[in-house]
Amino acid sequence: MSITTKPSSEFFTNSYAIASAKPTTEIIDFRPLNPEDFQAFRAIRLEALSGPDAKYFGASYEKESAQPDASWIERCRQTTEKALFGAFLSDQVVGVMAATKSDKHERTVLWGSVYLRPQHRNRHVAERLYQMRQQWSEARGLFDRAIFFIREGNERSTAIHVKNGAKVIGREEMDFADCSRGTALWFEKKLTAHGIT
Ligand SMILES: CC(C)(COP(=O)(O)OP(=O)(O)OC[C@H]1O[C@@H](n2cnc3c(N)ncnc32)[C@H](O)[C@@H]1OP(=O)(O)O)[C@@H](O)C(=O)NCCC(=O)NCCS
Repeated sequence: MSITTKPSSEFFTNSYAIASAKPTTEIIDFRPLNPEDFQAFRAIRLEALSGPDAKYFGASYEKESAQPDASWIERCRQTTEKALFGAFLSDQVVGVMAATKSDKHERTVLWGSVYLRPQHRNRHVAERLYQMRQQWSEARGLFDRAIFFIREGNERSTAIHVKNGAKVIGREEMDFADCSRGTALWFEKKLTAHGIT
């Protein structure tokens, strides 16, 4: 598998050609979501909350699936304090993750909503999204750190974030989207003002 970068004129918007075992090369585009993406976002988010990986999400499928269009549109709207980042194959969203200013902590951004469709995993597609989210968080100048939780036992997600320098700062019992109760480990990633550490 190889990834080549195409030149991009727009900050935070990139395309990568991913050569796979399939006969054609897939072009994956990476960019923040906008309100026009709300139906695609709703589809992938509800897939995440109802599929085999629901055990990793501290959210409720019932509550989110009942939200009106306006709520999904608002979630897709980028501001200086929040953004959703997407990986797109043609016009299909294949991966998402979120960054939102914390209401509880000073100069802190909350990272979450990480989901990549299974057929696109282990090909560094999520890596591009992680990098884009961190770059966005650092470019704000508003945040000294990111915090996020990972369910205990989610080895892939834990390994990625530990490799990126995140440290465990706490534990919390919580309900997950598959209706199980379990332990979430809270992590902190220190941010710098100048790019990815
Ligand atoms: C978690 C998930 C998005 C990871 O996707 P993935 O396809 O395994 O990840 P990728 O191959 O794109 O990228 C991971 C690699 O990029 C590296 N990477 C990620 N972020 C990076 C960063 N900011 N800088 C440098 N490298 C980074 C990782 O270390 C890893 O390297 P490795 O393959 O050598 O171990 C995917 O498994 C998933 O959707 N899981 C189900 C839902 C879930 O668990 N969500 C998280 C809840 S906390």
